[in-house]
Amino acid sequence: MPCEVAARFLILYGSQRGQAQSIAEEIGQQAAEHGFTADISCLSNQHKYNVDHEIRPVVFVVSTTGDVDPPDTAQKFVRKIKNKSLAHDHFSHLRYALLALGDTNYANFCNGGKTIDSRLQQLGAKHFYATGHADDGTGLEVVVDPWIEGLWDALKKLFSSMSTSNQQGTDLRDCTQDNYHKNASGQEKNKSDLEVDLHLLKLSEVDSEKGKTITSDTSDVETLSTALVASLKQSVPTLSESVLNVPALPASYLEVHLEQGSTEREQNIAYQPGDAFDILCPNRASEVEELLLRLDLQTQNNCAVQVNLLKNSSKKAAKVPLHIPQNGSLQFILTWCLEIRSTPKKAFVRALADFTQNGSEKRRLLELCSKEGSADYNSFVRDANVCLLDLLRAFPSCLPPLSLLFEHLTKLQPRAYSAASSSLQHPGKVHFVFNVVEFPARPEHPARTGLCTGWLADHVSSILRPLGTVPASEHLESGLIIVHVRPRPSSTFHLPADPSIPVVMVGPGTGVASFIGFLEQREKEREVNQEATFGETWLFFGCRHKDKDFLFREELERFAHNRILSHLIVCFSRDEPDAAGTLNSPTYVQHNLRLHAKNVASILLKDKGCLYVCGDAKNMAKDVNDTLLEIIGNELQIDKLDAMKIVAGLREEKRYLQDIWS
Ligand code: 2AM
Repeated sequence: MPCEVAARFLILYGSQRGQAQSIAEEIGQQAAEHGFTADISCLSNQHKYNVDHEIRPVVFVVSTTGDVDPPDTAQKFVRKIKNKSLAHDHFSHLRYALLALGDTNYANFCNGGKTIDSRLQQLGAKHFYATGHADDGTGLEVVVDPWIEGLWDALKKLFSSMSTSNQQGTDLRDCTQDNYHKNASGQEKNKSDLEVDLHLLKLSEVDSEKGKTITSDTSDVETLSTALVASLKQSVPTLSESVLNVPALPASYLEVHLEQGSTEREQNIAYQPGDAFDILCPNRASEVEELLLRLDLQTQNNCAVQVNLLKNSSKKAAKVPLHIPQNGSLQFILTWCLEIRSTPKKAFVRALADFTQNGSEKRRLLELCSKEGSADYNSFVRDANVCLLDLLRAFPSCLPPLSLLFEHLTKLQPRAYSAASSSLQHPGKVHFVFNVVEFPARPEHPARTGLCTGWLADHVSSILRPLGTVPASEHLESGLIIVHVRPRPSSTFHLPADPSIPVVMVGPGTGVASFIGFLEQREKEREVNQEATFGETWLFFGCRHKDKDFLFREELERFAHNRILSHLIVCFSRDEPDAAGTLNSPTYVQHNLRLHAKNVASILLKDKGCLYVCGDAKNMAKDVNDTLLEIIGNELQIDKLDAMKIVAGLREEKRYLQDIWS
């Protein structure tokens, strides 16, 4: 089929944490095996493609962040296609397929991809293959793998139909080639040509633990992490054993002193309550060490390894992932740049099999990434939170080259934490509260803590000096550590600008963090402007035990006492009913919402108030959403579908805001 020679298509991805990108790259790699050539671009690189005139078929891979938003890298593209002045047939030339990634733990599943899909449809673009909706909650690959498999047939059909119509006019091959050279110069990628050159370097020249290396080793990580430099100061542990023998959630409290840097962005350290910050933490030194040892990369004589990425054999520049610095030490790269804890995708497992000597180990690896092995992959790899190191331990004859790790390990992502403070109350400081995530021991790996919360907790508990007594210059000498943080862009989780608007806040557990910031802000605003009218403030908080994990109890009671908080409504899920005051007491925040349904409905429907929900996405946010539908349905005597429309309207008006995570 002549058109196969020029069967070139474009992959555009919008990725937040690298998943959409790695799936896009996987599609790109498989394309060659199926006789296609794929050009790839991130949606944010708008100078590299032009959908307004794109005649190549386009495959979109788009993730969703938080509850509803397309990833940051796709925001500009979304704004562009949402432009109201575009004609209804603006994209009638466009043939596309779309793979949306999401998580059913969030209320608006795959909303990032769906937003782009529906807008393209509205403007006349045509699917050449049905949209896929992959669920991270149950495993992306359940949908992704068969979707990719079906893509090749759909593309073949499309190209052969295009070739028929080409005979009547346009020459697809010439145009796509031409278009390719115009649009895709420099994008070509041949991962197998990636080479890694190792040089010895004195260990004293690199010091990956302290983070000092960040400034000397790589500008990429530098921009990622040093927007604000902060010192970790204090913990307020509220840990103890629960009566039910289930450990109460340990929560730690962290005060970070924001230090101004030299650039404009670094100096702008004011933040609004409700804003979140990215915290960049290193991979665990012990895991990096083990990985180096296991891969035979730990060199003798106190030497570290330096990595250079070479040009590939065809003399074109090898496409080195941007997050891997040229000339960084290997220890530095494994510590600060690569997500070594992530669960290896099937493509990675398949690639590892190629470097496995032992026949039965190799067979098992291939089985795990085969179609038939899906259930095993899900239970032994994905659900068990297995990482590369676990696989290398379980398959001792597997010895992958470094280049394979660089191809498959995604960029180490900063973790987002909501501020639990107001910068009006604490100029130059930000507070965080967090639970240490725990992964219990499994046959596949030993017990371990979450990467960032575990790291923070290790350091928090070693710091003894009280707050405010250590001059900034002493921070490092006194054993305090540097935490690299930066404000996350585009938060909408803010108090209404008009303080007379009433607000309802729902935040069990550490979800209360942002609301501490809100209330501190209101407290300051009241001090400054006593004449202003302040709307009602309701807080629905929940924890397990009144005496054990009631976070910010003193502060909340003070806010209630001072009427900064008009209604503090707290429930305890694991106290004996008597201890909580009444029999049949509400156990979860939504039970209390139901008890106060009239007030909640009136605030939202009559007073144009705002509802904020913060905390666990998996169960709480969904249950609260259901309760809201119920409250609105009962209040207005309408059915669920109509209640859903009203709730969608509240979201649209930014009067129902969520900051949730799973
Ligand atoms: P539990 O752990 O006893 O089930 C903060 O984590 C609080 O939220 C805890 O009291 C926890 O209760 C509670 N919680 C758990 N699931 C919830 C849900 N679906 N809705 C609201 N609160 C929930």
